[in-house]
This record gives sequence, structure tokens and C-alpha cells, in this order.
Amino acid sequence: MFMTVKTGFIEARWPHKEGVPLQDRISAMAEDLKDDVKNLQKEILLKNDGYGVPAFDRMLNPLYRGTLGDPDGYARVTGPCGDTMEIFLRFDNDQINEAAFETDGCGSSAVCGSFAAEMAIGKTPDELLDVTGDRILKKMGGAPEKEQHCAHLAGETLQEALSSYMVKITSPLPKK
Ligand code: FES
Repeated sequence: MFMTVKTGFIEARWPHKEGVPLQDRISAMAEDLKDDVKNLQKEILLKNDGYGVPAFDRMLNPLYRGTLGDPDGYARVTGPCGDTMEIFLRFDNDQINEAAFETDGCGSSAVCGSFAAEMAIGKTPDELLDVTGDRILKKMGGAPEKEQHCAHLAGETLQEALSSYMVKITSPLPKK
């Protein structure tokens, strides 16, 4: 009986199509089930944890993760939780044209670092001053209270990276 129901369910959702090889049918079923699991995880996180949809999507794909060689601005900051965030900035004509982050922290820190890097790209130093932890949280669509410090760590690291750039461009050239 149980098998009959299961088979019926499978047939209803992935009906047999003439000429479609069994292997392709199984692959389509596997893909659909993967999506179902992803949607279920999303629902649980959104309902129980307070993450915004953009945050959840970024969790699955933390863009801008990595390092930049010889960056114009760089900072490494350790938060009160003991996790570390690094931000790398490259400027072109006083405007950020590349940004990257790295972290050894929680999943939220990767999301926050990713948004910090994204929000930095295209900004001038003045505009970058507005990219704070609160702005990052807003862009994420929210985060659970216990994870909000991760956004502040990303914001602080970004501001420190900006400071390192400002020091670099305003320091007198070394005497020859
Ligand atoms: Fe430490 Fe998220 S950055 S818990």
C-alpha cells in the first residue's frame, strides 16, 4: 500500500514521458528534491531566525569572498565573538572598483562581508563612510539579534580598510 502511494506520488509529479530516458527522469527528480530542501531551509530560517530573503540567498552564494593581491585599502578586525573579518579594496580614480572579504567566522559573517564588499564597489571614500553595520543589516533584509554583531564587524572592517587607504594617499612620499 505504502509503495503504491509513493509510486502514485512520483507518477503524479514526474509523469512518464515517451522517449525520456529513465536516467533523465531520475535526474529531474533529484533536482526538484534539492530545490524542495532549499525552499524548506529558507522557510525555516525566515520564520524562526529572522533572516531576510537577501541574506538567505547570499548564504548560498557568498559573492566577493577571497583576497586581492596588493590592495589599496586593507583591514583585519577581530570582533567581540573572536571571529575575524578581512576586507580588501582596490581604488581606481578615487573610486572603489574591486572589493573582497575573507572571514573565519560564522555563516552570517560571510553574508555580511559579502554585502559589505558589494556595497563598497563603485563608491568614493566619502560615500563609503555611509556603509555601516546598520546599512549592511538593512541590505540583508534583517538578521537574528544574536547575529547582528556580524554586520557591525563587517562595517567596522570596511571603515578600517578605508582608513588604511586614506593614510596611504595622504602620507608624504618617502624621501629618496
Ligand atoms: Fe562572530 Fe558572526 S562574526 S559570530
